[in-house]
Amino acid sequence: MKNISVLASGNGTNLQAILDAIESGRIRGARLVLVISDNKEAFALERAKKHGIPAIHIDPKNYASREDFDREAVARLREAGTDLVVLAGFMRVVTPYFVRSFPRRIMNIHPALLPCFPGAHAVEDALEYGVKVAGCTVHFVDEGVDTGPIILQEALPVREDDTPETLRERIHVLEHRLYPRAISLWLQNKITILGRRCLIDE
Ligand code: GAR
Repeated sequence: MKNISVLASGNGTNLQAILDAIESGRIRGARLVLVISDNKEAFALERAKKHGIPAIHIDPKNYASREDFDREAVARLREAGTDLVVLAGFMRVVTPYFVRSFPRRIMNIHPALLPCFPGAHAVEDALEYGVKVAGCTVHFVDEGVDTGPIILQEALPVREDDTPETLRERIHVLEHRLYPRAISLWLQNKITILGRRCLIDE
């Protein structure tokens, strides 16, 4: 049994999708042991508590630097016996200290087809650029921003009348399928990292 911890800053619909996948058996061999948020108001914390999962707020204001914040987060993740760290709408860039603490054991989901549109405003940036195809990416986290090896991606067409809200909503539907699938592949040891490529043994 592997221990998964989730870091989230907001609504936590991806966290919910992971919780549901564990409870329905679509993710097997893992349990959620901890949810951390940098935002006290994050609904993700409520979602965790409803499922009886320890959920904590770490307040960035109490730490002098991003690395100090990450040191606290890593200590809590270790205490919980975390095997896999899942970033699900966690809107802070993690430091090299954090990445090195869980080598190749941190995943992130991003609402764009990386390497296009990294960063915090991916959906707006993609629409503004005028792309005809959008989507989402699950990747391992490395020391760059949204640059780690890609595990899974899924695309969807952009509609003429899309706004950031409508496009984000359709991307969310894809994300809720994709993230549990990527986690499940990891749990089954079906991901081999070869340089920048993740080979998937399905
Ligand atoms: C998701 O769409 C995720 O891809 C995005 O935040 C949203 C969180 O939604 N992440 C980023 O933009 C990271 N740069 P949720 O809180 O409902 O899971």
